[in-house]
Amino acid sequence: MSGRIPRDFIDDLLVRVDIVDLIDSHTPLKKTGTNHVACCPFHTEKTPSFSVNRNKQFFHCFGCGVSGNAISFLMMLNNLDFVEAVEDLAAFAGVEVPREANSQQAIEKKDDLNNLYLLMDQAADFYVQQLRNSDEGKKAVEYLKARSINGDCANEFLLGYAPNEWKALANSFDHNALIKAGLLVNKDDGQVYDRFRNRIIFPIRDKRGRIIGFGGRVLDDSLPKYLNSPETPLFHKGNEVYGLYELLKKNSKPAQILIVEGYMDVISLSQFGINYAVAALGTATSLAHLNLLFRFSTEIVLCFDGDKAGRNAAWKAMEAVFLSLKDNRSCRIMMLPQNHDPDSLIREEGLSSFTLRVKTAQALSDYFFEQISENLNLSEMEGRAQLVGKAKPYIEKLPEGIFREMMLDRLKAISGIPTLNTPNKTTKPNNLYIEKKTTKISNHSAPAKSASTATALLLQNPRLIHNINQKEFNWDELDIRGIDLFKNLQQVILNKNAINTAVLIEHYRNTADEKSVKTLATLDLYVSENNIDTIFADALNSLLKQGKYATIAKLETKAQNQGLDIQEQQLLIKLLTDK
Ligand code: GTP
Ligand code: MN
Repeated sequence: MSGRIPRDFIDDLLVRVDIVDLIDSHTPLKKTGTNHVACCPFHTEKTPSFSVNRNKQFFHCFGCGVSGNAISFLMMLNNLDFVEAVEDLAAFAGVEVPREANSQQAIEKKDDLNNLYLLMDQAADFYVQQLRNSDEGKKAVEYLKARSINGDCANEFLLGYAPNEWKALANSFDHNALIKAGLLVNKDDGQVYDRFRNRIIFPIRDKRGRIIGFGGRVLDDSLPKYLNSPETPLFHKGNEVYGLYELLKKNSKPAQILIVEGYMDVISLSQFGINYAVAALGTATSLAHLNLLFRFSTEIVLCFDGDKAGRNAAWKAMEAVFLSLKDNRSCRIMMLPQNHDPDSLIREEGLSSFTLRVKTAQALSDYFFEQISENLNLSEMEGRAQLVGKAKPYIEKLPEGIFREMMLDRLKAISGIPTLNTPNKTTKPNNLYIEKKTTKISNHSAPAKSASTATALLLQNPRLIHNINQKEFNWDELDIRGIDLFKNLQQVILNKNAINTAVLIEHYRNTADEKSVKTLATLDLYVSENNIDTIFADALNSLLKQGKYATIAKLETKAQNQGLDIQEQQLLIKLLTDK
């Protein structure tokens, strides 16, 4: 692992980059008043409710409720994890991402990984040389020829051959490293031997092209037909697909990505000109696979063999697919004819027929309702009730959005039950937070309101911090719900010298306060620019008063129950006589 990205760098980056430029480069924005607006890139809509604020360096969609800073935007847009988004944002700003000085342990770990990557490269190279230059490799070449794989394709996919020896790799590289890389099997008696022997070798690369694992196929009918690398520090089967690097090299923004089952399918499709196919590595398609692929394309076509196993696999994939479907993503299901896989089919019917199959693959919604209604008699009420019982749990898994609504509508239509409803997932900004300027402030007005108003204003206008310092509050006296966040926010602004909302949002990412902070940052207080200072002062005054009343109440209770000490008595008198 490389060292952490310094916090300061992230804060500076959020100041350096203008979120309006960033978002505009992806979704063209129109200026309206202080905001820039567009149709939301995260859900389908006809009129713009997606708004970007330059002062706050913050976006918010009033339609689907998403919000965040520049980092959040990239995370959501391209399905990146946090570090990847920071890296992309830094690239956008044209700066290098620094890493904190590594602890000795971290340095060693990183060296270890680098050595593993290097070893994988060397092993792949060894296998390629065996295929091309060794006598034994000739039979592997013959095998590939017999399967009509041409030399260009073999080169592109770095196909190799593992010789029929127990210690071909073991005799050339360090044993411990080979074991870590999953290339050597370690027997109980301490003996070691090469994992891949007498097999065609398929190097598996990550999206950046680094070799992270291998697949190996026998040249005859012996079993097991395929062997894969085990889980290693580099290789996590559930997260990786075969062929993605090769795909992206040819087309970084494919219109669709086809998921097939086998290595040979990917290779032979590619040879025939279908360069948008990848394979899950002998596992079911996972949510991680889908999220990875949806970074590069908005449509995924899942291809399954036409046999029973294929049909079962298709239905099993449904769960992950449903979880992955946001509005701008779509999925299709492509069932092949009996006794065919993509490799055999494209050889039989050629590119254009196969392409047509991809284009006309069944929409996920059609496939879903067709499968789920199978064996149900929908002309009877019982059948329709069963349909609802079976379908609803799936539909409820869909992320909120138009697609979910449409699926639900369709279920209503088919079942004839018009009032079906699923729980609404969105948490809308809470009206509780809104305090109108006209609200009369008394000690009984909801105490949290002023705290929220003050917090929201401060969050949205960090410069207000200077208005607080002049006031000399005794914050510790204040015992009000919501005050802790307000106090904490002040500290953060002072410590970070934070000048915009984005930096603050970033600070609270993954903390217990994240949600409140986001809500307050997007809260529209209906305050015009020249009134901000006044309203903020009002909120502070109100807080002060509420704090005062709360303290008075506390002291009075204590006076009755256990009595007050001298200091407490003086404080009570001061508070009661203060204006
Ligand atoms: P060919 O027979 O070479 O055309 O392979 P295929 O890709 O058509 O194979 P198949 O449809 O049998 O399997 C699809 C995928 O499942 C393969 O590419 C492998 O990833 C995986 N797989 C198949 N057989 C085995 C096996 O015996 N062990 C393991 N671990 N994976 C397998
Ligand atoms: Mn096959």
